[in-house]
Amino acid sequence: MLTAMQFCIALFFVRPVHAQKFDLAATPPMGWNSWNKFACDGINETVIRQMADALVSTGMRDAGYQYIVIDDCWQVSRDSAGNIVADAIKFPHGIKALADYIHGKGLKFGIYTCAGRKTCAGRPASEGYEWQDARQYAACGVDYLKEDWCNTGTQNAQSAYTLMRDALYKAGRPIVFSLCEWGSNKPWHWAADVGHLWRTCGDIGNNWSYMEAGNGNAYGGSVIGNLDLQRGLEEFAGPGHWNDPDMLEVGNGVLSVEEERSHFSLWCMLAAPLMAGNDLRSMSAETRAVLTNKEVLQLDQDPLGRQASAVSIREDLEVFVKPLQGGDTAVCLFNRGDQPKKLDLAWKDYKIGGGLRMRDLWKHQDAGSTDTPYRATIGRHEVIVLRLSKAVHG
Ligand code: GLA
Repeated sequence: MLTAMQFCIALFFVRPVHAQKFDLAATPPMGWNSWNKFACDGINETVIRQMADALVSTGMRDAGYQYIVIDDCWQVSRDSAGNIVADAIKFPHGIKALADYIHGKGLKFGIYTCAGRKTCAGRPASEGYEWQDARQYAACGVDYLKEDWCNTGTQNAQSAYTLMRDALYKAGRPIVFSLCEWGSNKPWHWAADVGHLWRTCGDIGNNWSYMEAGNGNAYGGSVIGNLDLQRGLEEFAGPGHWNDPDMLEVGNGVLSVEEERSHFSLWCMLAAPLMAGNDLRSMSAETRAVLTNKEVLQLDQDPLGRQASAVSIREDLEVFVKPLQGGDTAVCLFNRGDQPKKLDLAWKDYKIGGGLRMRDLWKHQDAGSTDTPYRATIGRHEVIVLRLSKAVHG
């Protein structure tokens, strides 16, 4: 029997929000989100259902992608009781029916709101309706909520997101909570207790390198811009709480296949949430091979949950290192430059000792050992991803 004092102490330490929180995103969430490809006008229930079908038929579900998330513009108004109302033309069967369909495919369902009065696209948002919205999401079968930060006026970000966290918890359904305030209030310092993932920068664009990344909370705007804004945030990511450099642009028709491989590999090295953002119904075999490369996905989903650090950059060659569970190490060699490069790397320069077997995770073959220097040619904007281990990986 517990004494009264022991009981109180036990209550203090059993914090159900946190228990639920950790289990829901012990590794970075993986899925598909409508925004990068379909933005506001392109979504409707047919598209979303077809995307759920395609997630299954392409093998992506089996590779680990599980959330289908509708981003902005599914909502049009509130009814007289204050309930949020879905666009009846685009979603004639309603959100619950769509969630049921997605669940029927063995997938999970996500939705979007905003902490302000209106969403970024000007639709009704959650300010002042947090408890009611959370209850409605839970009743509809929502498993993942992305909450944006437009039109928030003078609100305090930490308080606003904590309010939604508490509302979601009270609603009684396990819901992954994705904070989308673009890194404006440095969420890595306070959001581990609030959500499962937080955007660290502005929106990615469908391009390789559009804007120069600046300091701190700069915009991003591209694969390279968003990548560079992750530097220095490594220590804040871990099981249950992840830095989010934004969704993938793999398969959206602008990046070359080499750039798609690099974008995807780098996001996996960063232990980033992996939200595909392309049209899954019509993707090329190359894009599908990128998104479902299981050996690279294993780096993202590694249970240790470490975000890679860039240990060196020399003449456009950037080297990322990610420690893995069980003592293996992932190394990503990244040629940021516009010209191919010949590599002749001495592992000791990267503090990596001899005696380790290497496996090339894009060629799916053995790549020798760290006993000798690593020699290869790496194309422009390309990566080579190696898994270093004491045992040989088959
Ligand atoms: C913001 C977010 C995007 C997307 C749009 C929707 O820009 O950062 O990811 O959700 O709003 O309007």
